[in-house]
Formats: sequence, C-alpha cells, structure tokens
Amino acid sequence: METIYKADNERYRNGMKYRRCGESGLLLPEISLGLWHNFGSVDNFENCKKILHCAFDHGITYFDLADNYGPVPGSAEETFGRMMQTSFKPYRDEIVVSTKAGHDMWEGPYGSWGSRKHLISGLDQSLKRMKLDYVDIFYSHRYDPETPIEETLQALVDIVRSGKALYVGISKYPKYKAQFAYDYLRQNNVPCLVYQGRYNMLTTEVDDENIITDAAENGAGFVAFSPLAQGLLTDKYLNGIPENSRVAKGGFLKREQITPEILYIVEQLNRIALNRGNTLAEMALAWLLADSNVTSVIIGASSVEQLKENLRCLDVAPFSDEDITEIENILKNR
Ligand SMILES: NC(=O)c1ccc[n+]([C@@H]2O[C@H](COP(=O)([O-])OP(=O)(O)OC[C@H]3O[C@@H](n4cnc5c(N)ncnc54)[C@H](OP(=O)(O)O)[C@@H]3O)[C@@H](O)[C@H]2O)c1
Repeated sequence: METIYKADNERYRNGMKYRRCGESGLLLPEISLGLWHNFGSVDNFENCKKILHCAFDHGITYFDLADNYGPVPGSAEETFGRMMQTSFKPYRDEIVVSTKAGHDMWEGPYGSWGSRKHLISGLDQSLKRMKLDYVDIFYSHRYDPETPIEETLQALVDIVRSGKALYVGISKYPKYKAQFAYDYLRQNNVPCLVYQGRYNMLTTEVDDENIITDAAENGAGFVAFSPLAQGLLTDKYLNGIPENSRVAKGGFLKREQITPEILYIVEQLNRIALNRGNTLAEMALAWLLADSNVTSVIIGASSVEQLKENLRCLDVAPFSDEDITEIENILKNR
C-alpha cells in the first residue's frame, strides 16, 4: 500500500533561505526546482515523486513549469498535477507554481507565440493538467516579434484580473522589449514580478544586456534558468558522456556543445572548486547567488542525489578576492 507523504517538519529550518522577488511581497527560495526535463511521461514517476518530496522537505517552495515540458509536451504538468492531488494537496498555500505559454504546444495557428488567444487558452489547458484553480506566476515564455507586444501584455494583465494567476513574469525578452513590458505592466497596475533568463558561468548574454540590473531597477526579481548549463557545469562530462546523462538521452544539451574549449574552461573551474572544498555544481550555483539581485536559481535534477548535492551550495564559504580574480580570468575566455 502506498504510504501517505508527510512533509518534513523541519523543512523551513533545513538551511534554505528566501529572497524577496523584486519589490513584490513574494519570497522565493534561493534554490527552486524546474520540471523541464526528468518529469515527463517518459520518466519514472516514482523517481519524480522522490525528487519533488526531497525538494519540498528541504524548503524548496517554488516549482517552475511550462505547458510544453515533458516529453511528451504537457506531461510534466500532468506529473505535477498528480502530485497536487496526492502528496502536495495539503500544502498548496506553501507552494509557488509557475507555468508559461509561448513555445510550440499544439498544432494550428493558435498553438504557439504571444497572441491573447494562445496565452489564455494555454493557461486554461495548464490549469487542467495541473489540477489547479490558479498558478502563482504565469510567464510569457518568449517575446513574439509578430504579435503587438501590447496584446501579449494585456493578456497577462487580464489573466491576473481573472484570478487565474497571482503574478506575471516574462522570459527571454530582449532588453528593450523587457523595458516596454515593465512600463506597460506597471501602468496597468499588474507590475511584472520577475524576469526569467538563462544565466550560468558559461553564458554572457544576460550580463551583456544588463538584464539583471534592469529588472532590479524596474522592481522585478530575476530568476536564473539552466544555472548548471544543463549539467555542463558539473564534473560529469569531464571524462566523456555518461550513460543516462541529458546528452546521452537526447535532451536539449547536444554532443556538439561539449567542445574542447568548453571542457578546458570547465576543467579549470572544477580545479578551483575542488581547492575550495566544493564540487563544481556547488560552486557554480553559489557563484550566481553571490549576486543579491538574483532572486532564485532554478535547477534541474534527475536524481535525489543531484538535488542534495546542489542544495549544498547554500553552505559554501564566500568567494575570496583571489577566487573571484581567478574565476573571472577563466571566464574571460568564454
Ligand atoms: N524560461 C525558459 O525558456 C527556460 C529554459 C530552460 C529551462 N528553464 C527552467 O529552468 C529549469 C532548469 O533548467 P535546466 O534543467 O537546464 O537546469 P540545470 O540545473 O542547468 O541542469 C540540470 C541538469 O543537469 C544535470 N545535473 C544537475 N545537477 C547535477 C549534479 N549535481 N551532478 C551532475 N549532473 C547534474 C542533470 O542532468 P542529467 O542527469 O540528465 O544529465 C539535470 O537534469 C528547467 O527545469 C525550467 O524550469 C526555463
């Protein structure tokens, strides 16, 4: 017989810290969990359940989804819906759930991008799959260059007014479109809660465009996705491509992305991490959280062991001036 899950009584005393998301009232955990990979219908539900239980037991209160997560698209939301009907049912008010619409989801002219038609229908479908009445955060998943941006943003405003989302956010918007969104949403009394962008030690795009400081100056938080560069910022690819890794399983990280140049940088970072007494994953996450304008990093994990290792980033020693200089010198070669 299946045992009934009871969350750890110590979950808010296990070391998790919470940061205010921009100028909102919402606190998010420094580490959040994303369900992009590992939680689809192709994955083992018992393993999904263990990871989600472990996350909540360690103070992770924010779970990040999108309509297209799987595979198959939609199935990560169905997995989360099963959890909301069982383990997490008593804890709805302790959990922040986000979803997104804007990437390809269903066939035909309304199944993607940023029209009002797509966003509102997409959210309705997500709520059904997740067995929820509302999500905490609804994101426009990407900027749509062919839909008037006012239409996309007004749909976000109306979604909040309808009660189907408490807050809204934007993801991967180019700098000037993000500024338009911050202004429009503020003028319509539904301030943008958060910008979600790819941010890890191997990327430069967010820094190049000052996305994080722009978000802060506009009262929005910033959450980092793919903070481990999909697993590249661990020691796992240093000696080849392990079985069952995202690359071996044909996920979004491709063999061609693991170039000798990238591996050289990862090796050097791994050496510094080991000298500091950290794993590379711990150090890579702590590096992002050293910026107080980063509200949360959304990690992925395919096992409880990975999740536990990543959570240890919360305990690592601060970076010394020597560490910072050495790391910045390595990152100049990205
Ligand atoms: N807004 C957007 O457009 C967007 C885009 C991408 C992601 N996201 C969000 O961000 C979340 C996280 O993205 P991500 O999965 O790319 O994050 P990530 O943390 O960079 O990568 C996670 C993957 O790295 C590997 N890994 C994690 N910890 C490890 C460890 N300690 N040791 C060895 N390998 C480890 C695992 O892959 P394997 O074990 O399978 O190799 C895991 O699935 C997503 O779930 C989603 O919610 C949003």
